[in-house]
Formats: sequence, C-alpha cells, structure tokens
Amino acid sequence: MIAVRAARPSDAALIHALIGELADYENLRGAMTATEADIAALLFGPSPRAFCDIAELNGAPVGFSVWCYNVSTFAGRHGIYVEDLYVRESARGQGAGPALLKTLARRCVEEGLGRLEWEVLDWNTPAIGFYDRIGSVAASEWLLRRLSGEALARLAGE
Ligand SMILES: CC(C)(COP(=O)(O)OP(=O)(O)OC[C@H]1O[C@@H](n2cnc3c(N)ncnc32)[C@H](O)[C@@H]1OP(=O)(O)O)[C@@H](O)C(=O)NCCC(=O)NCCS
Repeated sequence: MIAVRAARPSDAALIHALIGELADYENLRGAMTATEADIAALLFGPSPRAFCDIAELNGAPVGFSVWCYNVSTFAGRHGIYVEDLYVRESARGQGAGPALLKTLARRCVEEGLGRLEWEVLDWNTPAIGFYDRIGSVAASEWLLRRLSGEALARLAGE
C-alpha cells in the first residue's frame, strides 16, 4: 500500500540519501554539494521555504518530493514548483510517483493555486512519458536562465 506523508526532522538523513540517489540517476552527483545538515536546515529550520513529502510502500520509505511555492503574476496566484521527484528503483511502477504528484495536485486545488510545475532532463524519456500521460505539457518556448557562482557575485557587485 502506498501512503504519502509530510517529512519530519528525523527524515533528514533519509532525504539526503534519496537526493544522492536522484543525483546519481541524473548523472549530476558532482553537482550535489548539500550535506545532511544543509538538508535539515533547508527543510526543518525556522520558517522553511522548501517542503518535502515522503512516499511509503507498506510502511517503508521509497520516494520523496521536494517543493516550494512559486508565483504567476499573470494569473495573480501562487503555484507549486517541484524541485525533486524520485522513487527508489526497487519500488518503481507501483504508484509511488503518481501518489507524490497527486498529493501536490490536491494541495494546489485546496489552496487555490494555479499550477504545478517542474523540470525534467531532456533525455529522461521514461519520466517524460509518465508526465505526458498525466496531462502535463512542456513549456518549450521558455528557457531556464541561471546565475550562480562568480557571475552571481559579479552582478551582486562583490
Ligand atoms: C519518474 C518516477 C518518479 C515515476 O514514479 P513511479 O512510482 O515509478 O511511477 P509508476 O510507474 O508507478 O507510475 C507511472 C504509471 O503508472 C500509473 N499508476 C501506477 N500506479 C498507480 C495508481 N495507484 N494510481 C494511478 N496511477 C497509477 C501511472 O498513471 C503511470 O502511468 P503510465 O504507466 O502510463 O506511465 C520514478 O520512475 C523515478 O523516480 N524515476 C527515476 C528518477 C526520475 O526520473 N525522477 C523524475 C525527475 S524529473
């Protein structure tokens, strides 16, 4: 049986491990600098701005989502941005991924939020197939821009 619950502070090590597994899947382990303490502070510090749900299969944790609120001024509403969605390989195909997204879709409806958004790597065809089948569409006219490291410090005038 699949169940989804909000993460708690005692999940920090588990969530850190799951993020590492997702980074491995996405061939991005080298980009993962977050420590377990970083994750604990991110999700469970005072007034957190990012949130995490855990999916359990028969009581054992098998997957997670990390999400935050974003905003559309055109719609005049907040939305939800999903940063991470991951289910352990041994538990895939049993509905944990759909259950995690459904939990966020319900939150959108209950809180009057306009949309649920996430990014997917262009080679991740299994995930893209799943996302197509639940009715999401690619915002292909939008390009993600990112400022970090030296360029970020330069613009900040440092
Ligand atoms: C992508 C991912 C999150 C999907 O999670 P999952 O639990 O394996 O998903 P499932 O295979 O159980 O569900 C997907 C399919 O089963 C259906 N399904 C399974 N159980 C279901 C249930 N109880 N209720 C409704 N639908 C269900 C879904 O509708 C969907 O249909 P499809 O077969 O047409 O795709 C997971 O495979 C994963 O973590 N992959 C590796 C990491 C990754 O790619 N993450 C996403 C990065 S953007």
